[in-house]
Parts: sequence; structure tokens; C-alpha cells
Amino acid sequence: MRQRGRFITLEGGEGVGKSTNLEWVAQWLTARGVEVVRTREPGGTPRAEAIRELLLSAKADEPLDADAELLLVFAARAQHLAQRIRPALERGAWVLCDRFTDATFAYQGGGRGIEPDRIAELERFVQRGLEPDLTLLLDMPVAAAQRRLQGRLAASGDSRDRFEQEQATFFEAVRHAYLARAAAAPQRMAVIDADAPLATVQARLSACLEARVSAWL
Ligand SMILES: Nc1ncnc2c1ncn2[C@@H]1O[C@H](COP(=O)(O)OP(=O)(O)OP(=O)(O)O)[C@@H](O)[C@H]1O
Ligand SMILES: [Mg+2]
Repeated sequence: MRQRGRFITLEGGEGVGKSTNLEWVAQWLTARGVEVVRTREPGGTPRAEAIRELLLSAKADEPLDADAELLLVFAARAQHLAQRIRPALERGAWVLCDRFTDATFAYQGGGRGIEPDRIAELERFVQRGLEPDLTLLLDMPVAAAQRRLQGRLAASGDSRDRFEQEQATFFEAVRHAYLARAAAAPQRMAVIDADAPLATVQARLSACLEARVSAWL
């Protein structure tokens, strides 16, 4: 019988390089013979992506209540887990996910101010014990990440989504919450200093994967 696959998440604030490096980590794993499923949150299935739209669209006419936001995040996650993540892990594929529940503690907890206990309650309800085997937290100062994000937005012509429109204090709170979670769970979460040229960040990721993932292969 094939072994259950591993579940790896990439986390960090806006513009730290999650999407760029997810692809790189996927290639690192593929080169070692692993079947990799790349996905993201909120989203990852058609219905969960529809919920993502509700979460990200910057509609001026009606504010989104913080608890409603939190519940939508977990509704999307329940769908994603049922339709995509659990089936992939069960057939032995590894799942590489751009953001997961640490982002909920960082954004809805740190950013919006929802008590972590209330988030943890939903985490237990929805995940029933499933959590990432490894979380790579890309960390860098907010101002530098904002400059990267601006570069990407200028190049793509996209406008800022509901979260990207927040102020620096929100992003500082998100960063602080992420780092606090990493400090509390060092065996699961690795902090990667992302404030460096891409090749340097990838060398850091490579060292981390060698140390933490090689034994699983
Ligand atoms: N180490 C790096 N040095 C310089 N630029 C980088 C680095 N890593 C990523 N970038 C660039 O910064 C921008 C943001 O990167 P990316 O989209 O991967 O971040 P992200 O964390 O996925 O952002 P978001 O939270 O908005 O999804 C992109 O234009 C990317 O090419
Ligand atoms: Mg991204």
C-alpha cells in the first residue's frame, strides 16, 4: 500500500514571494520523484474559488463582517480538503499549498483581531486533526514586500484586492502573528528570510528542504 502523501504549505504576507517559490519547491520535489499537487487558498476547487471571489472582491457598497469573512475562509477550506487535499494525500501525492490555516490566524486573527481560540475551534471542526507536515514561512519587512507587490501589480495591471488595500498596521499585525505561530510550533514551521535576491531565498529553501524533507523521501 502506498504511504499517505505529505502536506506542505507556504505562508507569508503579501508580496513575499509565495507563488514564485511554490513553483520552485514543486520542482525540487518533482526532481526527487514525488507526485506534487499544487494548490492555493482560499480556493483550490471551483466552488472554493467562487468563495475566494467573495472574500477578495473589493466591493465598496457593503463591508464584509469579520466573522463572516472567517467562516467563508473555513467554508472554502472544508471544500478544498474534501474535494482535493485529502484525496490527493490518500493516494500518496504530496500537496503543496499557497497559504492555509496559519494565514487565517495571521489575517483574521492578527489582522482583523478575532481571538485565536475562536479560530482554533473552527480549525478543529473543519480539519479534524489534519495539519501541514511542514510550513515554510517566508518572512520579510512589510515595506520591502509592499514594493515587490507594487512591482507585480504594475506589471500585470491588476488592481489591489480587499486585503491588499489594507494599511501598513494591518500587515505588521499579520507578520507579527505569523512569527508568533512559527515560534510556538518550530517543529512544523520553518521561517525563511525572504528579504534577499531570489537565488539566495532559494538556497535557503533548499537547505531547509534538505534538512527537513529529505528523510521523508
Ligand atoms: N526574492 C525576490 N527578490 C525580488 N523579487 C522577488 C523575489 N521573490 C519574488 N519576487 C517578485 O515579487 C513579486 C511578488 O512575488 P509573488 O507574487 O511570488 O509573491 P506572493 O507572496 O505570492 O504575493 P501575494 O501574497 O500577493 O500572492 C513578483 O513580481 C515576484 O517576481
Ligand atoms: Mg501569490
